Amino acid sequence: MQSIVRAASDGTKAVFYGQLCEQLGRLLGDERGFVPNAANTSALLFQLLPDVNWVGFYAAEGRELVLGPFQGKPACVRIPFGKGVCGTAAAEQRTVLVPDVERFSGHIACDTASQSELVVPLINWGKLLGVLDIDSASLNRFDEDDREGIESIAAVFLSSLATSDLPDFTNGVSELDRCR
Ligand code: SME
Repeated sequence: MQSIVRAASDGTKAVFYGQLCEQLGRLLGDERGFVPNAANTSALLFQLLPDVNWVGFYAAEGRELVLGPFQGKPACVRIPFGKGVCGTAAAEQRTVLVPDVERFSGHIACDTASQSELVVPLINWGKLLGVLDIDSASLNRFDEDDREGIESIAAVFLSSLATSDLPDFTNGVSELDRCR
């Protein structure tokens, strides 16, 4: 973990996120469960990402997001698709980067300290499983490098889940290679 922290302070976010992906892959290991892997992913990100105050998962159930494993203050439990930053990311199946939550119409304030937010949809072979949500108490905390880095983290998390009923379309490309 020390090397990851050093890479971050040395400046290159690509190196930082590459190492974070590798660390996450090792941490999740052979476990295939959504809950344990979401729990450990949110814990790792909360420990190692600088300047974040909430990291967690919402799982898709019908047209609603339901709170999953997270780190931070208690949060709202159910978010309809299309509502808030999380519901927008789910409905539009795209990453939503919000530099200033006060300027995002419909933002849902679970922790009033949050000032910026990044939400990545979790899409497994075309199916939306939920979202990964990260908040910061600083304005403009997240940039395009963070978006790419957290999308890579989401890919490592998704690849850890059980996919026994799905064909292998990866052609031998490891998930860690996708981080680079
Ligand atoms: N701010 C989010 C709600 C979830 S919390 O940040 C944990 C939103 O607008 O969807």
